[in-house]
Amino acid sequence: MDHHPIIDVTDLTDARGRSGATPAFEERSALAVKHFAFRENPFLDSVNPQYFFRTEAHEDAYIKMKKCIDEHVAVGLTTALSGTGKTLLTQILLTELDPRRHEPVLVLAYPGMTKTGLLRELAAELELGPLPPRAPIHMLMGPIQERIADLYQAGRKLIVIIDECHFLGVDALQMVRTLSNVELPERKLVTILLFGEDSFLDKMHRPQYASIFNRMFVRARLRPLDAAETEQYIKFRCLVSGGNPGIFRPDFHPRCHALSGGVPREVNRLCHGALFEAARAGARHIGPEFLR
Ligand SMILES: Nc1ncnc2c1ncn2[C@@H]1O[C@H](COP(=O)(O)OP(=O)(O)OP(=O)(O)O)[C@@H](O)[C@H]1O
Ligand SMILES: [Mg+2]
Repeated sequence: MDHHPIIDVTDLTDARGRSGATPAFEERSALAVKHFAFRENPFLDSVNPQYFFRTEAHEDAYIKMKKCIDEHVAVGLTTALSGTGKTLLTQILLTELDPRRHEPVLVLAYPGMTKTGLLRELAAELELGPLPPRAPIHMLMGPIQERIADLYQAGRKLIVIIDECHFLGVDALQMVRTLSNVELPERKLVTILLFGEDSFLDKMHRPQYASIFNRMFVRARLRPLDAAETEQYIKFRCLVSGGNPGIFRPDFHPRCHALSGGVPREVNRLCHGALFEAARAGARHIGPEFLR
């Protein structure tokens, strides 16, 4: 199971002592994993649904977004600070969708994405190509609408998940609205789930966004972890990676929470650093002195 290179603690300390260089990320990770007998690094900044820690806010957002899919709501919105778990949530939703009933598509918005850019991404994800380089809107929209209708005939529904939606301009958001209007008298044929930074909400309060914002009546907000959640989160990640959560001393957790503000990505970064520093020092337990 362990694919990490084996690194001898003393060798690494000596090498650093001589050159003064900080070992590369992979080496620090391998050292920490070996020293504390994890199966894998518990605090990697990767999005792995296995590590999903269900805080009240994350659970609430998950349920609301799932409800949009199951109850044919046109648009759902989840906002949060950077590093709080939006992309993780998109991955969890994607892995849980039933392919017999849903056709999930993930679109990653980028700065300045236009309505044409959005439709192009969507068409590409739906494998509707090849499309002419400068295809006008109707040449993009037509095939997408046809696909939506075909899916409906086959008893399936298009679920569009847009991550980083704060990058969408006003025209791209109007296109989200147009897409969300594809419907039969009895129900919506598409559900669009938007995930973006909290700043997206400020923008949505401007008058030109009113018509699209009205559509987003199912909204959720992820928030950073509180002190108790931070401690549970750290212990949970240790357990999932096959380690002992008791390696962290009780006074580690409040300090880690204070330094990270409870933002999971920051908690991961701090814990990863502390694991390495403690491993390098040959410590069996990790207190706040290893936080930096
Ligand atoms: N509830 C959670 N349970 C487990 N891990 C989490 C949770 N929330 C966030 N994380 C972890 O924190 C890190 C950052 O999460 P993620 O990338 O999903 O944040 P984000 O909100 O999409 O950030 P950004 O706005 O910068 O894209 C990832 O390693 C992720 O696995
Ligand atoms: Mg993200």
